[in-house]
Amino acid sequence: MVAPSHLSRATAPKTRIHNDMTSSDESKMTRVTLRTIRKMMVEDRRFACLTCYDATTARWMERAGLPMLLVGDTLAEMVLGHDQTYYADMDISVALTAAVRRGAPNVMLMADMPFMSYQADDAEAMRNAGRFMTQAGADLVKLEVDRSFAPLVEKMARAGIPVVAHIGSRPQQTKLAGGYRSVGRTPEEAMRLIADARALEAAGAVMLLIEATPAEVAQEIVQGATIPVIGCGAGPACHGQVIVLHDLLGLTDWQPKFAQPVANFGQELVKAVKAWMDKVDRNDLGEHPYTMVQPDQVAAPLRRPHTPTAR
Ligand code: KIV
Repeated sequence: MVAPSHLSRATAPKTRIHNDMTSSDESKMTRVTLRTIRKMMVEDRRFACLTCYDATTARWMERAGLPMLLVGDTLAEMVLGHDQTYYADMDISVALTAAVRRGAPNVMLMADMPFMSYQADDAEAMRNAGRFMTQAGADLVKLEVDRSFAPLVEKMARAGIPVVAHIGSRPQQTKLAGGYRSVGRTPEEAMRLIADARALEAAGAVMLLIEATPAEVAQEIVQGATIPVIGCGAGPACHGQVIVLHDLLGLTDWQPKFAQPVANFGQELVKAVKAWMDKVDRNDLGEHPYTMVQPDQVAAPLRRPHTPTAR
């Protein structure tokens, strides 16, 4: 089997084992591992995570010092233009996870297992999780689960697959639930959620991700957990927080309340596109870079350097 390019010795970035990285320290970005995240949890330092679906954006996010990226099944919405996450499949998810890894070789990279890549059959689930690790360089795989998946999580843990158990609101259940909804708002639901968290941690999950739950329910889960807990609309008690990048950047037309934009990239993109249209309209293309030469004088590369970091 050919080694994936991100793992080859020739192209591997020269990384040191993680040091005392903070999420805003660009110059010290070293390989982030589970130990880094656990250390942050123990020291009560919050960690940020965002979704990402391509190499170029990943490169900038690593430069910003972000310790963790998630290639979410929200790629079905943000990249493919669907209205739900059901439409992510294994091949595209693996391809985009590998792209993000090439762009951000040092981050902790979480891959989201698509709908029906782990629910039908445990053996298929294991192989699919393995693909994210060996073909895409993922550090973690995330599964939307409740405690009925504990035996699968246990099998994965035994095989060396680091599982993030995504509980609470589970977008892959939207059709069954009749829509997207928050979870854990009644005492019964809250108790169920807490029991799910305990069972999945006991089964060997290395992290929990809680989506769209009341803050006090998430707090109860965090207090009883010995593993890092990432919140996505689950309140401030969580050790880490994740939202969809496109919401943060102002690229979506609607954002959940817990994922408000801090920038207006949509409008900036419109401005840039209009500026280009204007240049083309005025035929204002600047100095032309190519002149006719003899064949043996062609030396300058016509293509970009192929490594994403070379520019
Ligand atoms: O797919 C995704 O982007 C997610 C996050 C919103 C948690 O699961």
